[in-house]
Amino acid sequence: GIYFGRKPPQPLGTVVFDEIVEKAREKLKEYPGAFLYAYGSAGTNSTDRNNLRGFERYGIIPRMLVNATTRDLSTTIFGVKHSAPIFIAPIGVQGIFHPDAEFAPARATKKMGVPFIMSTASSRTMEEVAEENGDGHRWYQLYWNHQPIPVRPRTNDVTLSLLGRAKKNGFKALVVTLDTMTIGWRPHDLETAYIPFGHGVGIQVGTSDPVFMARYNRQPVTKEHTKFPYDPKELDRLYFAGDEKTKDDVFMGIEWLKEVNSGIYRDWKDLKFLRDNWEGPLVLKGIQSLQDAEKAIDSGVDGIIVSNHGGRQVDGGIPSIYALANIMKSAKVRDAQRSGKFTVLFDSGIRTGSDIIKAMALGAQAVLIGRPWLYGSIVSGQAGIEQVIQHILGDLDTTLGLSGYQSLSDIQGKGEEIIQKLD
Ligand code: FNR
Repeated sequence: GIYFGRKPPQPLGTVVFDEIVEKAREKLKEYPGAFLYAYGSAGTNSTDRNNLRGFERYGIIPRMLVNATTRDLSTTIFGVKHSAPIFIAPIGVQGIFHPDAEFAPARATKKMGVPFIMSTASSRTMEEVAEENGDGHRWYQLYWNHQPIPVRPRTNDVTLSLLGRAKKNGFKALVVTLDTMTIGWRPHDLETAYIPFGHGVGIQVGTSDPVFMARYNRQPVTKEHTKFPYDPKELDRLYFAGDEKTKDDVFMGIEWLKEVNSGIYRDWKDLKFLRDNWEGPLVLKGIQSLQDAEKAIDSGVDGIIVSNHGGRQVDGGIPSIYALANIMKSAKVRDAQRSGKFTVLFDSGIRTGSDIIKAMALGAQAVLIGRPWLYGSIVSGQAGIEQVIQHILGDLDTTLGLSGYQSLSDIQGKGEEIIQKLD
């Protein structure tokens, strides 16, 4: 019905992605550091640009006179049938973007029936987010080999406690993000939110969790953050309510202070600890090479998210969609996927329905949406996220039908039957 309305869809007032980005910039105009933290990528932004351009290097081949008048967007992941093939990607520190923080995506995803992946670096506790998400489908994202900001557990005790809380609070799968051994070289963040610490080690204070900052008397140094319209005392009350659930967060902060100048290294064999201590599906996020995808199978995890973190980590990287194409050349990956033992998800650069069709034709079983939902939230919180999800699904539904396919299972993994690589 979008063509028959009298005014642009609300609350965003537009369906044009670039216009939503500009509205988000405007909304955060007093807090440019926060906007640039969302918008920016590593280095020259070349990986982010490559992600978007990569999709343009593939074209869909539509077919005619087939019955595609109704479409089925459902997708089954780890035995659960979802009405659509999109997940809400983990994006940390929502408190710097909107006063509702993680509650906005938790509520929007519940309402829209889309799974929500909650970040370790969240501004709200797992317990509160689970309550807001209710009977929605949620996964927990763990930073685990991440330094030096205070968002990942260093000791196994804290990791176990986080996993226990995730399980208790109904997070169905565990996503372990591997591409963030340290934060990427992000010039915008360095300009707006960087203070020297210790032996020249930098901490991105302005962009880290305001609760930690308040807790450890490391007040945000940038004026946009000190002025930001939420009260650190209120956050502190919510986050450190003085009971068991806050323990891990306190530990992580203390550990961070202790270890800030010492590295921590975790490798493939260490994944066994997570495998042994997490019963549900375990997924590695940040895989870009065929070799690593095969190592993931050997290490006994249940799946991967082919992702380059939206271009925020390695500058000068390949388009994530190329990484997916390379990985799906592996017979080992294809066999494991076909047998149902291994799930391949994808993110980085998904903006349109056709992007989803291309990723799924190349072999992804579902995709994660990153910045699009974040911009929706910046502009209008929960309702903004809902509208962004509607745009993407409306576009996907239309484009799938126009391409001549009735369901996503008609295209998933079908490669060159569906899409062509351009010269
Ligand atoms: C992220 N991403 C991310 N990933 C993760 O595993 N844990 C996290 O806390 C964050 N935080 C985060 C913050 C911001 C501001 C952005 C933009 C991204 C990466 C995210 O999950 C996803 O991989 C990318 O956003 C996907 O790329 P697009 O869709 O943004 O192009």
